Amino acid sequence: MTPPHPTYRVIQWGTGAVGIEMITAIIDHRTDIELVGAKVYSETKHGKDVGTLVERDPIGVLATAVAAEAIAMSADCVLYTPRTANLDEVCTILASGKNVATTAFLFHPRRLPASGRDRLLAACEQGGTSVHGSGLNPGNLSGVLPLALSGMSRTIDKITLQERADWSVYESTGITFDNMAFGQPVEQISPTTNAFLAFNSSIFSEQVWFLSDALNAGIDEVTATVEAVAARKDHQVFNHVLHAGTTAGQRWNWIGRRHGEPLIEIETLWTVGGEYPDHWPRPKDGWTLTIEGDPSMRTHFFSLASFTRPASMEEHVRSANVATAMQVLNAVPAVCDAAPGFATMASLPLVRSLVGFGHSTVSERGDR
Ligand SMILES: NC(=O)c1ccc[n+]([C@@H]2O[C@H](COP(=O)([O-])OP(=O)(O)OC[C@H]3O[C@@H](n4cnc5c(N)ncnc54)[C@H](OP(=O)(O)O)[C@@H]3O)[C@@H](O)[C@H]2O)c1
Repeated sequence: MTPPHPTYRVIQWGTGAVGIEMITAIIDHRTDIELVGAKVYSETKHGKDVGTLVERDPIGVLATAVAAEAIAMSADCVLYTPRTANLDEVCTILASGKNVATTAFLFHPRRLPASGRDRLLAACEQGGTSVHGSGLNPGNLSGVLPLALSGMSRTIDKITLQERADWSVYESTGITFDNMAFGQPVEQISPTTNAFLAFNSSIFSEQVWFLSDALNAGIDEVTATVEAVAARKDHQVFNHVLHAGTTAGQRWNWIGRRHGEPLIEIETLWTVGGEYPDHWPRPKDGWTLTIEGDPSMRTHFFSLASFTRPASMEEHVRSANVATAMQVLNAVPAVCDAAPGFATMASLPLVRSLVGFGHSTVSERGDR
């Protein structure tokens, strides 16, 4: 008889859009993962049962807003999904003996500035733990998918990942307007406009380095540039007005070059208000991955709540959060079982849905 899977005890760190999808997946579907704690930021969630927080029956696990209480808990892994990532905090978690799987950052920690990288490695060594960053993009589409497709390549000349999205459908206008700086003067948009844009730019640069290191591109630099485009008229975006003349489009390019030749590029074509600049490239909405080489390949990805049943726009938009959350939740067993240190999208085994069709429980299936 195949031995049953062990149960992995996890703490959810952040119960926002992504964290909620992880918690409900654990409660509704996972028999191999036990939720033993939750760290929240809102005082109103402190002391609440985590099941109740996600509109399920109580599960007897109370959320805490006190980081030290969550650090003191015993668990195998922390699902780290706060809005703002904190390297020191993650080091403390790792040193306390808990692995970390995160959607927020650390997509290629080997390329972090040396001080951060070394602190992380020291914490992993102290705790005997590993850390893994992934998600949708950065994550599967910028890391796992290119590597998976490259298995069919003889040689590669260039990799380009384009993301085209209209942010008007996202209800989190705080992120759109405050963090992403849509609605601000175009001349103010740059990789250093605010801490969020700088951080956001750094994680995409990290993905370019990741692909270079994983596929022998040997790039010597990654540049980040942005073109901001002004709205031609006012747009109502949920509770916010985006005024004519302010930023309604941001085209970002992170390009990895070797001796000046562009080899790896991530491009985002982001708009708010539905005005799409005539001079921008026109991939389909979603993500388009192009590998130029022998052979050349192209694939397009987008997620919906369903391709068959009717669903609201809110549900469709949420499907990207589900995808982000599951890519990291499904990695938990591999992250916990990995050797101490960095468990990357290149070093972990292929992450797949452990629930899948759900016709047998994860613990019954054994190791396959
Ligand atoms: N890699 C990818 O593809 C991908 C895709 C989407 C998102 N992400 C990342 O995943 C993380 C979670 O995203 P999300 O959509 O769930 O974000 P969100 O809904 O905007 O908020 C997430 C969390 O932020 C917490 N929070 C509130 N104040 C905070 C503070 N001062 N410092 C830190 N956290 C604070 C909230 O606390 P409560 O628990 O109290 O509500 C909530 O848990 C973010 O870092 C985001 O950038 C990655």
